[in-house]
Amino acid sequence: MRIVVARDYLELSKKAANMLASQIILKPNSVLGLATGATPIGTYSELVRLYKEETISFCDIITFNLDEYYGLDVDNKQSYSYFMKEHLFHHINIKKENIHIPNGKAQDIFLECKRYEAAIKDAGGIDMQLLGIGRNGHIGFNEPDVKFEAMTHLVTLDEDTIGANSRFFKDKEQVPRQAISMGIKTIMHSRKILLLANGIEKADMIYEMINGKITPELPASVLQLHPDVTVILDGNAASALKIYEIP
Ligand code: F6R
Repeated sequence: MRIVVARDYLELSKKAANMLASQIILKPNSVLGLATGATPIGTYSELVRLYKEETISFCDIITFNLDEYYGLDVDNKQSYSYFMKEHLFHHINIKKENIHIPNGKAQDIFLECKRYEAAIKDAGGIDMQLLGIGRNGHIGFNEPDVKFEAMTHLVTLDEDTIGANSRFFKDKEQVPRQAISMGIKTIMHSRKILLLANGIEKADMIYEMINGKITPELPASVLQLHPDVTVILDGNAASALKIYEIP
């Protein structure tokens, strides 16, 4: 695991965008796994800037998002589909048919999960997967006690996740209780993983993810077993690691 500590959120976002940009330049038809949430917003705006400056092109890029709320339509402003359009897809030259996000309105969830896994396989697998981390150690929506062998599946969100994500909704009651998420196995099959975390509320989880026991109780701890993980932190998220000088 490579650990990079950035001065602040802006530097973290620039470093993450540069890693994704270099993946895109070296392999213009890369398959990227993408995340939502507050953490990658800065990374997406840096990628949009690099695209506008003509440093990178998304014309042959294929994307797969980690997750989508169950029951939300693509036009719902709280859906991850909407989030991705707003923060990235509407501002770059990606082809519509190359964008993949689980269908939160699928009639048959089991078939939808199977279809999603097959689409990832058909695309040749994920070259670089971008991840955030939940305050409870989740990656994607793989909540504590998830099975490490899980592929894309329907998940029930943890109370902590519902509480954390309520900041994006009018009130907590509106947060969907279920989501479709890539599984831990899907994530672990990615060739490279880039995990971002900022803020003091992530510090203990980051410490445990890097130094703690590998256990489904802390889903992100499984990343200790992946051969190519880069973790980019701001000083606050890195503060429990102690070995780093906090900028
Ligand atoms: C988002 C996702 C989640 C978030 C995590 C952190 O697609 O899968 O695992 O990365 O909940 O969210 P933020 O960045 O809002 O703290």
